[in-house]
Amino acid sequence: MAKVLVIGGAGYIGSHVVKALLKSGHGVAVYDNLSTGQKINLFKEAEFIEGDILDTAALQKAMSGGFDAVVHLAAKKAVGESMEKPEIYSTNNICGSLNILNAMVGCGVRNLVFSSSAAVYGMPEYLPIDEKHPFHPLNYYGFTKLEIEKYMEWYSRLKDFRYMALRYFNAIGYDAEGDIRGREIGSQNLLPIVMDVAAGRREKLSVFGRDYETRDGTCIRDYVHVSDLARAHVLAIEKLMAGAESDSLNLGTGKGTSVDEMIQAAEKVVGRKLNVEYAGRRAGDPAVLVASYDKAKKVLGWEPAYTDVEEIIRTTWNIE
Ligand code: UFG
Repeated sequence: MAKVLVIGGAGYIGSHVVKALLKSGHGVAVYDNLSTGQKINLFKEAEFIEGDILDTAALQKAMSGGFDAVVHLAAKKAVGESMEKPEIYSTNNICGSLNILNAMVGCGVRNLVFSSSAAVYGMPEYLPIDEKHPFHPLNYYGFTKLEIEKYMEWYSRLKDFRYMALRYFNAIGYDAEGDIRGREIGSQNLLPIVMDVAAGRREKLSVFGRDYETRDGTCIRDYVHVSDLARAHVLAIEKLMAGAESDSLNLGTGKGTSVDEMIQAAEKVVGRKLNVEYAGRRAGDPAVLVASYDKAKKVLGWEPAYTDVEEIIRTTWNIE
């Protein structure tokens, strides 16, 4: 069994990773500054260290706890904000990740599972997107994820250090057993907004563009359940500990769902029509993003358990 430090473990994806690690019998400590993470997401079985990845002294102290592996999910992730305030993303995502890499090599922690993104690819040149697809990030957020992958690649060549970068497509859903109750606040992503409209916290949903070359004119994305993502982190740690090489892997379902289809599925789940308006395109949105997860299947033996968006949305509606 591994002893794992989950950085960003109080956040949306991090808390699901902590649950999956505990369920598999691993020892877990969480390091989180609670900027977007929430105490309600913490598990009593996991030690909690409140700290920031920019506080190198605190980070090094936490890292010296005899860990076998680190999962790093602490990042700013609002695509629009990253274009307006890139300096925040340089500092938090790039400098923060370098602090983690340096603390790891300083403390002799060899294995890192990193939260990367489909945003490293940019506008798809072919579909489904595999890991050999060229990297042309369309936003600064995606650029920071790509840069961190490059730093990890260099550290793996130069140091006793190995990593798995997990490139998530569109993460949605919540723990189906109801153990994670911290609803993401202020998210700009589609499903949280749909749920805000359904719950009356928001007046309406604006659909960004109805004139794309897709089956109904709205953008298509690959929505993957957060508990499936979490399980991949456990498998990645176990593979690294068993001596696997460093790698970068897509995590998606291989299935595309349009914005309109998401709305229809959500309406079915909540049992009524939602207030929707059609607006213009959002800058930088590719028409279609769908993953090939063949490599994750081959390397980790990972496959998504959830492939039906209605079922996934049901796990989200449950947390209300
Ligand atoms: N959308 C709307 N209205 C909204 C919000 C979103 O129509 O109010 C649409 C978007 O235009 C897009 C789709 O819903 O077509 C999904 O949008 P999200 O903002 O939920 O997700 P993105 O696909 O833009 O990006 C997400 C994450 C990124 C990640 C990327 C990888 O936010 O961090 O997936 O696929 F990099």
